[in-house]
Amino acid sequence: MIKPESIEQLKSAIDIADVIGNYVELRRTGASLVGRCPFHEERTGSFSVSPSRGFYHCFGCGAAGDVIKFVQEIERIGFNEAAQKLADWYNIALEYESGEAPKRRDPRPLEVLKRFFINELWQNGDILGYLQKRGISRSSIERFEIGLALSGAAQIDMFSREKIPLTLAAEAGVAAVDERGRYYARFTNRVMFPIYNPQGQIAGFGGRTIADHAAKYINSPQSSFFDKSRLLFALNFAKEAIAKQRRAIVCEGYMDAVMLHQAGFQNAVATLGTALTETHLPLLKKLGEPSITLSYDSDQAGQEAAFKAAKLLCARGFGGAVALIEGAKDPAEMLEAGGSEKLATCYQNAVPFARFVVAKIARRAENRDAAFAQMRQFLDTLPPFAREEASASAAAHLGCDPSRFRIRASAPSAALFGAKSDRAELTLIKTLALNRTLYENTVDYLNAALFAAHADLFAAIGDEERLFALLSDESIKTLSPDEAKDAIGKLLTFFYKKELKRLRAEGRAEAIKEVHQMIDRLKNGGLMPFKRF
Ligand code: GTP
Ligand code: MN
Repeated sequence: MIKPESIEQLKSAIDIADVIGNYVELRRTGASLVGRCPFHEERTGSFSVSPSRGFYHCFGCGAAGDVIKFVQEIERIGFNEAAQKLADWYNIALEYESGEAPKRRDPRPLEVLKRFFINELWQNGDILGYLQKRGISRSSIERFEIGLALSGAAQIDMFSREKIPLTLAAEAGVAAVDERGRYYARFTNRVMFPIYNPQGQIAGFGGRTIADHAAKYINSPQSSFFDKSRLLFALNFAKEAIAKQRRAIVCEGYMDAVMLHQAGFQNAVATLGTALTETHLPLLKKLGEPSITLSYDSDQAGQEAAFKAAKLLCARGFGGAVALIEGAKDPAEMLEAGGSEKLATCYQNAVPFARFVVAKIARRAENRDAAFAQMRQFLDTLPPFAREEASASAAAHLGCDPSRFRIRASAPSAALFGAKSDRAELTLIKTLALNRTLYENTVDYLNAALFAAHADLFAAIGDEERLFALLSDESIKTLSPDEAKDAIGKLLTFFYKKELKRLRAEGRAEAIKEVHQMIDRLKNGGLMPFKRF
């Protein structure tokens, strides 16, 4: 068992928002951060993280806990395993009560192998020449720690020499066991690119064949510490530039990323031979939600991938554009031909996501009706602020009025207009749904539990389609920000008064005292974060 003090120390050393930020895109709102809950399907941001309290809570589904609980739930692992995982990520040693600590992932095999590969490369004139011919400078080779894997036997020997058990090498994903039970090296005859995780530790490798192998590239095998859907190549070098410029270039290949950095595009990262997916976004969001330039290959596969990535990014609120590489197969080739200015121009002329997507739909659809339907479907995925501009672009393509792309009506829900409807709640929810800033400024005070009649609508804030009936019901007024805060105060007062009854029945003197104080503060117009007793 891990010592309780050690657990406490771990928790206090770790920023819960940093951990959760690897899984969920979080936006800061006052003292806490909010995002879409990873534990239930939702389009709104009901999930909130409080770094100061070291706690997360979803007011949609009720999931809640500390950083260890989060890792347990999201990775579906036990308490000890989750604690150990966190300790590994942050390089913190855990103390165990007695007996042997469970094995943690040992970075040594990756480290020594990386150095071994580097050494091999610098002794190999042919491959150095090949890289040079491809335009990669010696200083880029050094900086990116590019190496060379030749014979597998030499790697296995090296592990023995370095006294690294092959079981460890296998756990690190650089060796495997054959049918006869013998260890062999995973990477042979490849130019090797080390890949780092967002915490700055080496996570694995990508390797390009030098022998025309059918698999041009292979990566370290998928595991909990090498998850290619949560890693971006060159992020370790690009992090600062991305945060500073609020801009990132996302490309497809290792070579592209190295060449881009070499040419001064220090904000370039590459996916590891996979499409850009939802799980990559928190990595970027954490760097300040940069605007993204997609710089994919000019072939059809590349353009299709850009189409999908652009749709995803703008649906998730990222701004950015798709660059069209002309006269070269990819950014690396363009730079190789000496075109760093040409590439910069190409990035300046990149087509904003929504325009790119709409144009592609227009070009592809069989007819105008199909185009309209597909554009509408795309627009429906967008957050309100992006929708308007995209509608204009869609309308321009079809030669129709942008109002035709207004949010679709859904049937008014019976509950909404039923006898139990509570207009005060509806008024507040409508106000919050229409005023993002107000919502973000007050979300800490709010909780679905405050809404006796319309908790579901409160949880749907941000989902215009579900709120359509409410948003379009002119009989429900909206409030000014001051009136809204007043209304929140009333809801809280009402809620805490109900709580008092329960706490009295339970005889909880301390809590009763605290709730009384809260009610007093509310009476004087104060607001405080929602709290359960
Ligand atoms: P060069 O041919 O050396 O210029 O590399 P490239 O980066 O231009 O390769 P390409 O455009 O064919 O592929 C882009 C990226 O997709 C690569 O950097 C790899 O990450 C990935 N990739 C390409 N081929 C394979 C493959 O066979 N297997 C896997 N897993 N990934 C691949
Ligand atoms: Mn390429």
